[in-house]
Amino acid sequence: MDSDRLIVVGAGYVGLVAGTCFASAGYKVGVVENNAQKLLSLKEGICPFYEPSLSELMKEGINAGKLKFYADQKSAIQELNPNFIFCAVGTPESPDGSANLKYVEEALKESLSIETKEDLYFVLKSTVPVGTGKKLQEIAQEKTNGKLWVVNNPEFLREGTAVSDFIRPERVVLGGAPEAVNAVAKLYESFLLNNRPLIKTDSTSAELGKLAANLMLASRISLVNQVARLSSATGGNIRAIERILQTDSRIGSKYLYAGLGFGGSCFPKDIKNFIHLCGVHGVESSIAQSIDTFNDEQKLFFMKDIQKEFPNPKETTISLLGLAFKPDTDDIRESPALSIAEYLYNAGYKVKVYDPKAMGNFKAWAKHLKDLSYCSNASDCLKDAKAVILVTEWQEFQRLSADKFKSLFKGSHIYDGKNVLAGEELKKAGFTYKGIGQS
Ligand code: UDX
Repeated sequence: MDSDRLIVVGAGYVGLVAGTCFASAGYKVGVVENNAQKLLSLKEGICPFYEPSLSELMKEGINAGKLKFYADQKSAIQELNPNFIFCAVGTPESPDGSANLKYVEEALKESLSIETKEDLYFVLKSTVPVGTGKKLQEIAQEKTNGKLWVVNNPEFLREGTAVSDFIRPERVVLGGAPEAVNAVAKLYESFLLNNRPLIKTDSTSAELGKLAANLMLASRISLVNQVARLSSATGGNIRAIERILQTDSRIGSKYLYAGLGFGGSCFPKDIKNFIHLCGVHGVESSIAQSIDTFNDEQKLFFMKDIQKEFPNPKETTISLLGLAFKPDTDDIRESPALSIAEYLYNAGYKVKVYDPKAMGNFKAWAKHLKDLSYCSNASDCLKDAKAVILVTEWQEFQRLSADKFKSLFKGSHIYDGKNVLAGEELKKAGFTYKGIGQS
């Protein structure tokens, strides 16, 4: 079996990172991208989004002849004759919360048309609704008489640390028929050093496991944010409470930071997908529903206070430091910054914004918010504002000391949406400092 050749369909976060990392591990990889403009830049080794170290790794792969980009699956298959087809196309959310499988089905259809004497593996990296792997396997069985195997391989990488998450995963999950799972497992051997677990299971458990992981992480964030609200109301300090929780080994230390709620392309979408699936299967989903609505409210945590402190919106400029849903990415999907900018704008405030990487994406989204001020750096954004909200914890914002604020910011209120600024120093310097869950 020519098992060192594979293709990846879809050059989004998951597909491009997976393809590039497999190439850097020595596999010969073809990545299929049907957006002509995106394809041109990919061929030049330019990553279409901001992800640390990905462009460098892409260029290495291209120069070593291990990584190549194609406009369609057919030409990639003809040239590479792969045994593995990784499906990493988007599964956009439909209005009812279900995932749209149109692109996955198209990718499978192309794979079904491959004529080969050897077994072929269609590896589902896209996050798909529970039952998809099983359904696609039935179609494949019928159309190829057992030549094409469908294996679920959910991806757990995070934006901002995508390359290291892929190269050194905490675990790899594979779901499907045992022989097929074993064949795909071989591809991951070099990524799973030091006894990192490879979890082999059925396709339904792999699919549900991925949704469950995101639901579980999102629920921790919402729970700590729930505690933060009570901490704000009662005069507690959430940083100390976080430590009390994190040092209990039964609870664990990660995903327990209070803030303006979670954003991104996965948590919000997967929770809606989970709720939808519960509805389809007649399963009660009140916990997941609460997380979803609670998180939307959390994004607007400071709004009431701002309206109370600054009752004349037309005379008040508010600056937002950070627009991306988290640092080290230019992704603004479901970012708290969108809800905040929209809220302040609709309430009549003047809004200034700055983000080190996400200005382009934000501008494209914010066309309906006329007259926002787009700033080219943090100093510019702080100038003339009466209040500032730190939305994304970029390092350059974390480094803003009380002295720096004194020289750059003539306003009075500093709202720290990520609890990363030196609150006590800022108060001593005369500012009104408000964090999440801090008195
Ligand atoms: C997430 C999952 O972690 C990953 O496994 C999956 O493959 C995709 O979705 P990602 O969306 O890239 O990854 O970012 P992540 O670092 O998990 O953060 C998600 C959101 O939660 C961000 O908005 C972040 O600010 C927020 N968050 C995270 C908190 O508010 N508090 C925390 O303690 C951790």
